[in-house]
Amino acid sequence: MLPLMAIAVIWFSLASASAQLAVGFYSLSCPGAEFMVRNTVRSAASSDPSVPGKLLRLLFHDCFVEGCDASILIQGNGTEQSDPANRSLGGFSVINSAKRVLEIFCPGIVSCADILALAARDAVELTGGPAVQIPTGRRDGRISSISNVRPNIVDTGFTMDEMIRIFSSKGLSLEDLVVLSGAHTIGSAHCSSFSDRFRQDSTGKLTPIDTSLDRSFAKELIDRCPVAANPSITVSNDPQTSSSFDNQYFRNLIAHRGLFQSDSVLFSDSRTRRLVEDFANDQESFFASWTQSFMKLTSIGVKGDGKGEIRQSCSAVNI
Ligand code: HEM
Repeated sequence: MLPLMAIAVIWFSLASASAQLAVGFYSLSCPGAEFMVRNTVRSAASSDPSVPGKLLRLLFHDCFVEGCDASILIQGNGTEQSDPANRSLGGFSVINSAKRVLEIFCPGIVSCADILALAARDAVELTGGPAVQIPTGRRDGRISSISNVRPNIVDTGFTMDEMIRIFSSKGLSLEDLVVLSGAHTIGSAHCSSFSDRFRQDSTGKLTPIDTSLDRSFAKELIDRCPVAANPSITVSNDPQTSSSFDNQYFRNLIAHRGLFQSDSVLFSDSRTRRLVEDFANDQESFFASWTQSFMKLTSIGVKGDGKGEIRQSCSAVNI
């Protein structure tokens, strides 16, 4: 009988050769992988409640540029991290910690791309969202270029058509756009991220450009983010239940309390309004859809079939 380790190695070689994602991909090669990622995320989130939001956004920005291949984690001049759209990203240290632990117990086995996908999955569950069983087996990319960021990332000022175009280029539908925007039920944003919603009148006063924005909400935002506000000030994406992954985001949209223009448009556009209403009324339906859309998000442009590598350190490609 072959020793367990040998079976693990054979299975792992076959798995990486076929490069198919599989639930439990590491069950023989590194059985504790998912547990170690979860523990790292849990402990980081317990000392810093901003961690879950950061991890979820980090995954989004990774998967939309070069696919879910941890290209966002690579440091250096001219990498994806250098783009201003990525400057406020966080959560890197959590991924690096998980990788360090995994390199001790399972050296060279678990990709940074999988760690990031698992960590974001865990972040959702930890904040009360659905537990999603995601397949693993992603490999890490070797390309990370600032020039790939802008053409692939959605900006808050985008029209619905522009958002649809970018999402569909990733294989994501209009429904996925609405569902995944529900990520804004946790986390926070800097004042500069929604300053385009206000104009300064001749007296220096800020007024909302979108007159349908709830007046008391607009006032709260202006009070928190006056002209020349400290750039480190943040506002909760979903102030009512800022650290709970729930369907409050969709209720906010109906109440005209969407933080970004790209949030508000989901309710004002007739193509997506119905779905927003459905999710606002039925959290289970949002969670069921989240499970599907999250699986699609975490499968974008996954590298396999001899492409990519298992990075030794998440912040640099292997030499
Ligand atoms: C649809 C278009 C989207 C736009 C325009 C957008 C834009 C933004 C912006 C500008 C911020 C605030 C960044 C800051 O000021 O620090 C933010 C935060 C966030 N976004 Fe999005 N986003 C979109 C979709 C998504 C998706 C699909 C996800 C994940 C599945 C996501 C997850 C998050 C999270 C969790 C935060 C909070 C980050 C934190 O707390 O540090 N977003 N988003």
